[in-house]
Amino acid sequence: MRTAIYPGSFDPLTNGHLDVIERAAKLFDRVIVAVAHNEEKHPWFTVDQRLAMTRRAVRALKPVRVTAFEGLLVDFARNQKACAIIRGLRAVSDFEFEFQMALMNRRLEGRIETIFMMPREAYTFVSSRLVKEVARLGGDVGEFVPSHVDVALRKQVKNRRD
Ligand code: PNS
Repeated sequence: MRTAIYPGSFDPLTNGHLDVIERAAKLFDRVIVAVAHNEEKHPWFTVDQRLAMTRRAVRALKPVRVTAFEGLLVDFARNQKACAIIRGLRAVSDFEFEFQMALMNRRLEGRIETIFMMPREAYTFVSSRLVKEVARLGGDVGEFVPSHVDVALRKQVKNRRD
C-alpha cells in the first residue's frame, strides 16, 4: 500500500490542484490531500470550508481522501505511513521555496521522498492567491476552479464586502 500526502492550504482548491491530485491518484494506492490550518496566512475560508470544497471536488477519485492537519508535515506523513509528499511545480519561480522545503523535510524525515509534479500547462499561471484577487476585483475565475468553488468564492467576496 503506497501512500502519498498532497499538502497545501487549498484556500481554495483550484483546477491546477485537482490536476495534480488526478495525476497522483494514478501513481499511488492512496493519496491523502492534507489541508493545512495555516492561520498565519489569513485564509479566506475556514478549514472546514476548505475540506468540504476539496472533498466535493475529488469524490469521484477512489484512492483520494481529504483530511486536515496541524503541526509538522513530516509528522503527519509519518503517522499516515506515507512514503511520499507531492508538491506541484508550475514555474521556475516556485522552485526555490519548494526545493528548500523538500530538503528540510528530508532532513527531518529521510524516509519520505518529495515528488514534484507538473500540472497541465493550461494551469501553470493559476494560483489560489491570484484566483482570490481576480474574484475580489470582480473578474471571472470560472475556468480556473471547480464550479462549486466559483460559487463559494462569489459568496465570500460578497460577505467580505458587506
Ligand atoms: O499551499 P501552500 O500554502 O503552499 O502549502 C504550504 C504547506 C502547507 C505545504 C507548508 O506550509 C507546510 O508544510 N506546513 C506544515 C508545517 C511544516 O511542516 N513546516 C515545515 C516545512 S519544511
